[in-house]
Amino acid sequence: MLKSYLSNPPHFFKDYKSNINRAPRKKFFQITKAINKGSGLKVLSKNFDMNNNLLLFKKNKNPIGQKIIIKGKVIDRSGNPLKGIIIEIWQANASGKYRDENDTHDAAIDPNFLGYGATKTNYNGYYKFKTILPGAYPWGNHKNAWRPKHIHFSIINENIFNRLCTQMYFPNDFLLNYDPIFNSIAKKYRNSLIAKFDKKNNIVPNYLVFNFDIVL
Ligand SMILES: [Fe+2]
Repeated sequence: MLKSYLSNPPHFFKDYKSNINRAPRKKFFQITKAINKGSGLKVLSKNFDMNNNLLLFKKNKNPIGQKIIIKGKVIDRSGNPLKGIIIEIWQANASGKYRDENDTHDAAIDPNFLGYGATKTNYNGYYKFKTILPGAYPWGNHKNAWRPKHIHFSIINENIFNRLCTQMYFPNDFLLNYDPIFNSIAKKYRNSLIAKFDKKNNIVPNYLVFNFDIVL
């Protein structure tokens, strides 16, 4: 079953326009130990603001949108839990707007939503974030292109040179059918990028709970 997680999308996928210019075309090479020396992770951990709650509640006001919990387990290919893994997420708010000055989408910034968070897996490999269901947003890839609701994940194992960047999607989002980034993944692996509604553990009042397990 874990085999289904072993596929990465191709570096070059022609329907995803921005990667026409930036996808690597030359053969990869291993970064040498000399460059890798001096534990990037230590420096990184110091600079990381660990905060797994993206909701701000300024003046006791709720952020706009559906409050959700994303939780899951990080395991290796043999199913062993991985502790101390740094997980960083960033996302648009409920109206599809990033807290980023380069975001030109005509939608509102929510003062009660941070849009960025980071945490570490515990001894049993578990992590959790409190956040908001992100909105879809338009982008210039093709005519009338909209990204499906998604959360960006950056997962760092032993050091910063070895990180996995991926995106998590939500069940039954019709925009998934039209998204070249999602569709650059081989069909049989796409489900592994969609969070599952955690019906059994949906016990936190006012939050929809989703499960998203990650295999490194
Ligand atoms: Fe995005």
